[in-house]
Amino acid sequence: MPGKLRYAARSRRRGRRALAVGGGLVAALLLVASGLLWLTGAPGDRSGGQAAIGGPFKLVAGDGRVVTDRSFPGKYLLIYFGYTGCRDVCPATLNGVAGALDRLGAKAALVQPLFITIDPARDTPAVLQRYTGGFSPLLLGLTGSAAELRKVADEFKVSFVVHREEGERAGYTLDHSSVIYLIGPDGRFVAPIPADASDVEMAEFIGRSVS
Ligand code: NI
Repeated sequence: MPGKLRYAARSRRRGRRALAVGGGLVAALLLVASGLLWLTGAPGDRSGGQAAIGGPFKLVAGDGRVVTDRSFPGKYLLIYFGYTGCRDVCPATLNGVAGALDRLGAKAALVQPLFITIDPARDTPAVLQRYTGGFSPLLLGLTGSAAELRKVADEFKVSFVVHREEGERAGYTLDHSSVIYLIGPDGRFVAPIPADASDVEMAEFIGRSVS
């Protein structure tokens, strides 16, 4: 059940927090944890925050197609926000998603995984296409204008902050909240999936949630 999955993710998070020595890491973990708490709300509260998650979008896929929230009738959407230059969180999460899709078997056909970039300046459709193909042929990367992507991120309560890197000309990284969103075929938010859940946990959760 969702509760079990959340508990497993929280336990790992506690463990990682104990190991954290840098303030940045602690801050990043708190950002993720508070985001999840906000998303999941109080026990028994099924309507509060959940109804407000998600919304319409119109973006460009890695293969050049225009993709909207209505481009996949009958399918659940598995949406993750990040960027291809991300050094650890995005690759680890997308590996988890790819592994979960493998484990889902026939049910994977009910799910369309989407990777929406928050770094449109560097993540062109071609860059996204190469990147997502390295994880799963099912994974579709989406980009758009900075304004369009900010709007979609806001709809999903995704926060991100740009960090300029010293000593590197024009170098920057992005801190971003890290939650996978499961959206139903009717466009409604079903549940958040912790991005640090294992592929086994993700597959179990998705398998129970889609039909
Ligand atoms: Ni990332």
